[in-house]
Formats: sequence, structure tokens, C-alpha cells
Amino acid sequence: MDAERLMNAALNEEIKRLTTLGLHRRCVESDLPRLAGLTLEINRLKKAKNAVVCAHVYQTPDIILGIGDLVGDSYKLADDCRKTAADVIVFCGVHFMAETAKILNPSKKVYVPSKNAGCSLSEAVTGADVRKLKAEHPGLPVITYINTSAEVKAESDCIVTSANAEKILRRMYEKHERLIFIPDRFMGANLAKTLGKTPGEDIILWNGTCVVHERFDPELIKVYRKNYPGLVALAHAECPSELIAEVDFMGGTGDMMRYVENTDAAAYLLVTECGFGELARLKFPNKNFIAMCRLCPYMKSITLESVLALLQDPAPEEVTVPADIAARAKISIEKMFELAA
Ligand code: 13P
Ligand code: SF4
Repeated sequence: MDAERLMNAALNEEIKRLTTLGLHRRCVESDLPRLAGLTLEINRLKKAKNAVVCAHVYQTPDIILGIGDLVGDSYKLADDCRKTAADVIVFCGVHFMAETAKILNPSKKVYVPSKNAGCSLSEAVTGADVRKLKAEHPGLPVITYINTSAEVKAESDCIVTSANAEKILRRMYEKHERLIFIPDRFMGANLAKTLGKTPGEDIILWNGTCVVHERFDPELIKVYRKNYPGLVALAHAECPSELIAEVDFMGGTGDMMRYVENTDAAAYLLVTECGFGELARLKFPNKNFIAMCRLCPYMKSITLESVLALLQDPAPEEVTVPADIAARAKISIEKMFELAA
């Protein structure tokens, strides 16, 4: 077989693989060879460079299923990164997630295939803000959502993700009467309600919000319930409390996916970023999903093309964290792993 026929055979195999994964259902049929060409080349370069692709569940399914090696929520990705033997981590998620991976793996090269993969929560608070908060509330522990910069993590006592925030806060309240929770004021208020605590008194909150989850309309959930008997509504914990009051389940993306997997509702209303619903549909083709979703502009700034460009670039821009900040941030991240276990 000559080189061209070998290439065509490999491409046909890749088209078959993507079709088995259900990816042919999310593009026009004539576009599948282009997608397969991209995933084939990315997977070849990954092997050549001993690289892994970490993919958050808000990425598009062509990234998650076509090239993702480590897939999940923020907690799982941070944990998986600690254990990888790869030399290079390509983080298809947002910048704070890649920074966390770098802090946990200082010897590895970590990259994000987009310059625009920020996060509104992460941008809502700085290290100087936390130092000021600590001066205003001396002695209170600072519990910080993982959606923050390394500098903010360095000023914190313990990091949490949506998967373990409730558990860690409960443990913190065993030793402390009051604490500071930053930066998501909605998640903080939702946790306060679950734990029977009063915002502003037992739990000091910051004014950060997620641009995706802050805007869902609670009234629409009532409309959907009327139209879909037996509907079960699930929402991410970053949504405002008025919305959470209307749903059957609140959690992080990992909890939400497990809930769908382990229940058998007539229909699921997913109140979160659209990538979650797209993945759920492919994972559970026999379940019925209604997505009340919004796109995260930061997550969606990553594409197969941007991943390929990064792997082809002889000198891509690496994620770096100054050593003193990384050392302090690592302590608060390790505290999370200890308390979440
Ligand atoms: P999860 O940890 O639940 O995946 O959430 C990350 C995130 O950015 C949600 O908006
Ligand atoms: Fe940040 Fe919200 Fe996007 Fe998650 S969905 S990365 S919290 S802006």
C-alpha cells in the first residue's frame, strides 16, 4: 500500500471510531472526514510528545470523546493530573484548571489551547482582595472555590470544588464558628442554606458570580414542569438560590452526571453549560433531555483546531506559576484532597 492509501485507510478507521462514539450525530455528514482528520492528527501528535488531553465536561463532545484522555469535573481533573505519567498536559478547560494542574505537577509542561479561556469567577477576586478580607475578619479561615487564580489560592486555607464544598465546609464548621467563603456568592448562599448558616454572620461571602449560571430564569422551570410530566430538574450549584429552590437536585457537574446515570426519570432538565447536555445525550442515548443551557464563552474558546495548532507549535506559551505562589497554593489544594477523601 502506498502512503496515500495508508492515509485513506487510517482516515476511514477514524471516521468509524467517531461514528461509534456518536459524533456523526452532531455534525453534517460531509464534515465528518474533516473532524476525523483533526482528531487523527491530534492523537498522533499526543503520542509523539507523550501528551495527555484533559477535557472538562463543558468542552464540545468532539474534544471530550475524540481526543480527551482525562475527562470530568474540576475535582476529577485535578486529581487525575496528579497521577498522569505524561510529560505534557494539554488542558481543554479554563485557565485556573490548568494552573492547578501546573501547581500539582511542577515538572510537567502544561498548556491551554486558547488565550481567552478565563472565568468570570476567577476574575472577580485578587490576592490583594483576600488579604484585605483577612485583615477585616482576623482569624477566620478562608475557604476558596477552585475557580480562582493561583495568587488567590495562595492566600487561602483550603480549596473546594462543587464536588466537595458541602463536605469540607461541614468539617470546617466542626472547628470554626465562622468562616470566609470566596468568590461565588450564589454557591456560598446555597451552601449556607444547606448547612443552616446565615450569610454575613456565620459565612462571609464575596461578590463573584458565574456569567453562565447567574442568568437562568427560575420561572421557566415551572413552565417546563407543566409541559413535561415526570420532569426532574438538575442545576449547578453556581446558580442563584431562587433557581435552586425550583429544582430537584443541586450539585457539581460530576454529581449531576451520576444522578442522571443512576435514576430513571421521564425527562431531565439540565440547568448548566450546554456542553454538559450534549455529553449526557451521547452517553445516555435512551434518556430524554431538555437543556435549559447557556454557552460558556471561555470554555468554548477551545476548538479541535486550536488544540492542533498548539501541538504543532514548536514553542507554545506554557502555563507558569511563580514558585513562591505555587508552594503556598499547593498547601491549600492539598488540604482539599485531605478533607475531601
Ligand atoms: P465543576 O467542578 O462542577 O465541573 O464546575 C466547574 C465550573 O466551572 C462550573 O461552571
Ligand atoms: Fe467560569 Fe462559569 Fe465558565 Fe464555569 S461556566 S468556567 S464558572 S464562567
